[in-house]
Amino acid sequence: MIREIKRHIRTVEDFPKPGISFKDITPLLDDGPALHQAIDALSSVVEHLHYDRVVCAEARGFVFGTALAYSMKKGLILARKPNKLPGRTISAEYDLEYGTDALEAHLDSIPPGTRVLVADDLLATGGTARAMCQLVENAGGVVAGAAFMIELGYLEGRKLLEPYEVVSLINYK
Ligand code: PRP
Repeated sequence: MIREIKRHIRTVEDFPKPGISFKDITPLLDDGPALHQAIDALSSVVEHLHYDRVVCAEARGFVFGTALAYSMKKGLILARKPNKLPGRTISAEYDLEYGTDALEAHLDSIPPGTRVLVADDLLATGGTARAMCQLVENAGGVVAGAAFMIELGYLEGRKLLEPYEVVSLINYK
């Protein structure tokens, strides 16, 4: 099954910059049965975790985070780029290749003690996912684990997420 899902992930060399091997999920999104299979598979690898809500980051993370929350009947927390959310927000910065960026979430989406699963399409350096963990913890929530459709294992992003439990469907080592 994983092999079938992997078949729908396209590797594009030198995108968006020379030297980057980009994992394109759009062929998977194009194929209804394969997409359904991927969400079911992601749901089964998080089945043992205990959480109330899923947090995911724009833009590609919204796709799988939303599908996972729907499939598992959990609430959804949007981690957005700065100044997109109208309510009181909490913010966490993360490093980019040059400089920093930040993610924000509504403070009232993470009441103290809420158990939250971090979800994203891809784990690369781990910066984005770690920022989501920080959002959760700074609001008083508890990170229940982190789940990814794709992991670029050779970048060792999961080290940045220690001590949280990290699960992924497809690992490019
Ligand atoms: C991609 C991907 C993850 C992040 C992983 O998003 O969707 O959120 O990179 O990289 P990291 O582990 O090194 O932080 P991107 O920032 O390209 O934004 P997009 O979803 O809007 O395309």
